[in-house]
Amino acid sequence: MSGSTVLIVDDEHTLARSAKAFLADHGYEAEVASTGEQALELLERLQPDVVFADVRLPGMSGLDLLKRIRDFDPVIPVIMVTAYGSIEGAVEAVKLGAFDYVKKPVDLEELKLLADRARENRLLKQELSYYRRRATRDVGLEGLVGESPAIRAVLERARQIAALDETPPVLLTGETGTGKGLLAHAIHASGSRAVKAFIEVNCTALPATLMEAELFGYERGAFTDAKESKPGLVEAAEGGFLFLDEIGDVDLSVQGKLLRAIEERAVRRVGSVRERKIDVHIIAATNRDLEREVRQERFRKDLYFRLAVIVLHVPPLRERGADVLLLSERFLRAFNAKYGKAVREISAPARDLMRAYPWPGNVRELSHVIERAVLWSRGPTLDVEHLSLTSPLPSDASTDHGALPPQGGDLAGWEKSMIEQAMREAGGNQTKAAQRLGISRDTLRYRLKKFGLAG
Ligand SMILES: Nc1ncnc2c1ncn2[C@@H]1O[C@H](COP(=O)(O)OP(=O)(O)OP(=O)(O)O)[C@@H](O)[C@H]1O
Ligand SMILES: [Mg+2]
Repeated sequence: MSGSTVLIVDDEHTLARSAKAFLADHGYEAEVASTGEQALELLERLQPDVVFADVRLPGMSGLDLLKRIRDFDPVIPVIMVTAYGSIEGAVEAVKLGAFDYVKKPVDLEELKLLADRARENRLLKQELSYYRRRATRDVGLEGLVGESPAIRAVLERARQIAALDETPPVLLTGETGTGKGLLAHAIHASGSRAVKAFIEVNCTALPATLMEAELFGYERGAFTDAKESKPGLVEAAEGGFLFLDEIGDVDLSVQGKLLRAIEERAVRRVGSVRERKIDVHIIAATNRDLEREVRQERFRKDLYFRLAVIVLHVPPLRERGADVLLLSERFLRAFNAKYGKAVREISAPARDLMRAYPWPGNVRELSHVIERAVLWSRGPTLDVEHLSLTSPLPSDASTDHGALPPQGGDLAGWEKSMIEQAMREAGGNQTKAAQRLGISRDTLRYRLKKFGLAG
């Protein structure tokens, strides 16, 4: 439960405060807003996992707030809190996509159970999370920091791709945390389709049937739960981009349908005979070795060739020379602002250490390391002891991790063993293990599942 954030929107201070305290006692981080306007301001910073909102609020109503939250992020579960007499409002809210409602006087235990349930539900949805990012929130290719020849070459090709009106699918490869996701957004944001949709699909292992319904949509009655027809994500990306993240995880049966959609430029909803034409640019990303997956018959060869017409390989951070310093300065500024600190410089030994460190978690790991360092630092200078780098340098011969896996060993197997080790050292605590690996808890959770280490 720890680490989940709840936002409580209620102008009734006593209730809001006791709910906050109760949830905090049960491992949630809770914040209170007394108006819808205030809640919207908090939303971006807080990225709450669950929102409780009173139906009756001063100013913006609870229902309007619900709609605005839906626009911001369609997967945040919102639970409406209703006083006697405003039940209709709550029912209306559920129709509009609220997760559930709870009646006043509120039973705190019930509130917590609802939060647990909403949170679980959200995690499930995130398995196949997609959200439409507004073009304004995306940065263009200029937002990518780096001047090394390795990254410049990638950016140059990305620029060329972004300038095209028509492009074949683009495949982004590279280790975890190298910036594939960021690059995909940037390609979208720098082209003429920037004002159109950018639909992101996380292709983590999901039952093939669900994945198919999400991607291609379905017609009413196509299966028991299909009360209404629904367009899929491919259709939702019309005119814009579809970003298939972790494409290597797509089930074989869905791969065939994906290939067909790309080649025919058309989709057929589940349960429908009608072909619908689509005009969608496709970017796929993976940190797996797809060629190998093809050899092992886990990935369709024809789909691979279709996707691999344009491959952009995002190089690991350790191959980007002094970029690590440029990036740390960028992160330093950002985290100074976030935490109200004033760390102005990085000491020479710390810079040397960062240049030598292999950064297995790449840019993501670097940003976490700098965040921690800024958080713990007291003076204006960031030094070696603030960095607390989590894996040994290549020259460190005392242990065998941090070294390359033995000849013939595979990266995935190595990754798995590092994750196992981190989980062991963290006593099974996912938050700690994720920190240690320099990855997010969601990423860790996903990888645990992928390697069959979960549960
Ligand atoms: N060149 C860069 N300039 C600035 N920030 C970057 C750069 N590259 C990556 N980042 C940041 O590093 C983090 C990791 O990047 P991103 O999520 O795009 O990696 P990824 O390759 O998609 O990783 P994964 O394979 O784990 O999904 C993000 O917060 C991203 O904004
Ligand atoms: Mg990514």
